[in-house]
Amino acid sequence: MYRTHTCGELRVNHVNQTVTLSGWVQKVRNLGGMTFVDLRDRYGITQLVFNEETHKELCAQANGLGREYVIQALGTVAERSNKNAKIGTGEIEILVEKLTLINASEVPPFTIEDDTDGGDELRMKYRYLDLRRSPVRENLILRHKMGFEVRSYLNSQNFIETETPVLIKSTPEGARDFVVPSRMNPGQFYALPQSPQVFKQLLMVAGFDRYFQIVKCFRDEDLRADRQPEFTQIDCEMAFVEQDDILNTFEGMTKHLFKTIKGVDMVDTFPRLTYADAMKYYGCDKPDTRFGMKFVDLTSDVRNSGFKLFDEAEYVGAINAEDCASYTRKQLDQLTDFVKKPQIGAGGLIYIRYNADGSAKSSVDKFFTEPQLLEIGKKMNAKADDLVLILAGGLDKTLNALSALRLEMGTQLGLRNPNVFSPLWVVDFPLLEWDEATQRFYAMHHPFTSPRIEDVALLDTDPGKVRANAYDLVINGVEIGGGSIRIFHDDLQQKMFKILGFTEEEAEAQFGFLMNAFKYGAPPHGGVAFGFDRLAAMFAGIESIRDVIAFPKNNSGRDVMIDSPSPIHNDQLKELNIALTAPKK
Ligand code: AMO
Repeated sequence: MYRTHTCGELRVNHVNQTVTLSGWVQKVRNLGGMTFVDLRDRYGITQLVFNEETHKELCAQANGLGREYVIQALGTVAERSNKNAKIGTGEIEILVEKLTLINASEVPPFTIEDDTDGGDELRMKYRYLDLRRSPVRENLILRHKMGFEVRSYLNSQNFIETETPVLIKSTPEGARDFVVPSRMNPGQFYALPQSPQVFKQLLMVAGFDRYFQIVKCFRDEDLRADRQPEFTQIDCEMAFVEQDDILNTFEGMTKHLFKTIKGVDMVDTFPRLTYADAMKYYGCDKPDTRFGMKFVDLTSDVRNSGFKLFDEAEYVGAINAEDCASYTRKQLDQLTDFVKKPQIGAGGLIYIRYNADGSAKSSVDKFFTEPQLLEIGKKMNAKADDLVLILAGGLDKTLNALSALRLEMGTQLGLRNPNVFSPLWVVDFPLLEWDEATQRFYAMHHPFTSPRIEDVALLDTDPGKVRANAYDLVINGVEIGGGSIRIFHDDLQQKMFKILGFTEEEAEAQFGFLMNAFKYGAPPHGGVAFGFDRLAAMFAGIESIRDVIAFPKNNSGRDVMIDSPSPIHNDQLKELNIALTAPKK
């Protein structure tokens, strides 16, 4: 038997018991006459004690141990005189009588402690060592518990977990596909699913009624902290439902997870905001609603002031940073630099200070009288000591920049408390997006999303105005999930493909199976998919989803531990009928 107990288990009530522990050596301390070894496993750390006077040989053996050696120790549990309140086993130690070296270890390339000295790339290269560190392991245990609760909740709601294939045909979710060559079908390729979208719809045609799957999805897109090339969705679909049925069901699941995992009671009904209002008040479709600071449109209020920027701007928008009139020149310069960053793209920042004495002072005093500034203040709901920040320019760019500025101010003012969770559904997304470069419409969500019934007629006259029966779940400014009510008549689906620029033949070649299925009694249906990694990162209170994935890829999509992607052997290429050309520089 390797162990009678784990390294996190023993307490004072075990004193005088003979126990056997196995684990990794975290640290060896030789304090003249006594040697202490911290023994670690997944469950905790236990202190082993070796007394040179009574156990000379054993003590020498302990002094020879290195970090991360795997050992087994047999001994007696004793109460510690010098207790350590920081760890669960801190009241006891083991007086070792027998020590067995199970396996030696090379010196690890970084310290395996909560605060490690290892840089990101090194920790990823030796991820199996990184995973020995408790903060990383805790994140994965949290993820495991979440998966368990998701299954428990959806099972209680009659959902059937069904696996769908991984070697499929392209599903258009807006990113590039990863493709896999087929040996048995020379010159032909599978695509890895960007999501199981069409399969879950086919399961509804098959009468499954309620489907879910915790499933890997693959997207070849530019990576960020919240994006991995392979990530996990809680993917769901329901039949005979309208939007409200889906939102209610998944509000239920979200509340269940927050309650069981975080002990947090969420608001009873999640607020809903139309896409149009999200853009108008927050300049983005995933607003952080932990704080207000909504945009106010000043375009018509500041026209004809003689200030060229305002006079010519398509949009002038402002936010009120409460109690910030005391911002110094330097702080305002820093904010100006912030909005001028290339990725934010504003030309500059205009401010108005509303002083305690009721006066107002701005960076555009040349063009505005004080009464005019006070008038703007009224519209902004600004009181004494507030600071109004204004951006002007083209509509989309300015909304985007003002959104970044609002988030920055929220951060600076401590309004983005990680322990507060503010959910909302963003609804009524546009169905289609016009792309200037290719002069065609793209589906904003995916081509299976139903238009809102009252907008269907607009498909023929003004497709850009059609609203989708689609929704996103946003929590604290993070898009946690998204879904829609689907088209379930083949004629409407064909029309949609046509608007998206597919010829009849292309639509048939790519989606004939789906349109065919719709001819055999497709029920009305809809669904949603949650980003499981994003939700786990939010629960763990961290920014990057990499920290909740056991073996993640780096920002170039590489697994630096197994060194993938990597070239394949010529024989393999031959077998697949693939000839490589020189990579582009
Ligand atoms: P969507 O594309 O919105 O919808 O994806 C659903 C959710 O998945 C998460 N997500 C990602 N997480 C990590 N890395 C990525 N690269 C990544 N891409 C997306 C997000 C997102 O909200 N089939 C539809 C769902 C449906 O209509 O039912 C779909 O995949 O949290």
